[in-house]
Amino acid sequence: MKSLLIDLVNNTKNLKELELTKSKIFGKNGILTAEFKKLKTIEPKEKKDFAANINDIKQSITLFLEEKKRALEVEENDILMQKDAVDVTMFKSDKNRGAMHPVNETMKEIIDYFLNLNFSIEDGPLVEDDFHNFEALNLPKHHPARDMQDTFYFKDEKLLRTHTSPVQIRTMKDKKPPIRMISPGSVFRRDFDLTHTPMFHQVEGLVVDDEDKVSFSNLKSLLEEFLKHMFGSVDVRFRPSFFPFTEPSAEVDISCIFCKGKGCRVCSKTGWLEVLGCGLIDPNVFKAVGYEGVSGYAFGLGVERFTMLLREIPDLRSLYEGDLRLLEQFR
Ligand code: PHE
Repeated sequence: MKSLLIDLVNNTKNLKELELTKSKIFGKNGILTAEFKKLKTIEPKEKKDFAANINDIKQSITLFLEEKKRALEVEENDILMQKDAVDVTMFKSDKNRGAMHPVNETMKEIIDYFLNLNFSIEDGPLVEDDFHNFEALNLPKHHPARDMQDTFYFKDEKLLRTHTSPVQIRTMKDKKPPIRMISPGSVFRRDFDLTHTPMFHQVEGLVVDDEDKVSFSNLKSLLEEFLKHMFGSVDVRFRPSFFPFTEPSAEVDISCIFCKGKGCRVCSKTGWLEVLGCGLIDPNVFKAVGYEGVSGYAFGLGVERFTMLLREIPDLRSLYEGDLRLLEQFR
């Protein structure tokens, strides 16, 4: 009897079958159940031995069933794992390999440069309020310079930030000087043509320290080194300009990297390419954040503009069309 039941368990192939086997043995019409039923009709003097025997069989078969169950579980798990396994050594062609977006790549290079110089990275919200985006930056309401930036407005004086400069204000309100920070991120303007998209990226830089430690010549040498790092051996010139939040202000040009300053289509025959805005922080900005006895300088640049020049991309809009034929070139 015992060996018959052991064979029955042994021949079970999977967990589902095991349930069947169990009921074949212990179920209402099961083999062992039938044996227990025999107890009623058996001679009293044989009863004791007979009962001891089937109880013994019951115990060992129960143990054996549990053992079998564990073995089958391991087996079925192995089969599942094999079915789901990924062959990491399998050959995969290069054809559809992804790449970092060129704008991200330029961004990373700029950020790495300033991280090496111990600048911190600061962040701010994309939906800004009028105070941080304009007012605190010396752009009061109705100031004509607001027209320099075509803005997307929400209700309640909220807007999509038009530049990364509001992060200057937030950082100065949060921290005490000295400050050396950059703030990379996306900005928004109502603009759409060959060289403008409604969303683009800027990197803002801000340095604030004691009055005797910050000068325009510090700013000049920092930006000159930075631009040579990004564009190779170029000439750099500072042109007087205007930003409400800096005084004096300058725009920075590099000698055209395509014609080496001789004059071509990209530089509109001028030999120069404009790449940055910068200046010393206007005292009104320090007043708005409650700073006294400090000096500072700031600069701002467009990451797409850098990317177009570095990668010779003629139409800025193509960067955001997701066309694989363009993106594939940057693998
Ligand atoms: N925020 C300016 C812009 O978007 C750039 C800038 C930043 C100029 C910092 C000067 C100093 O045009």
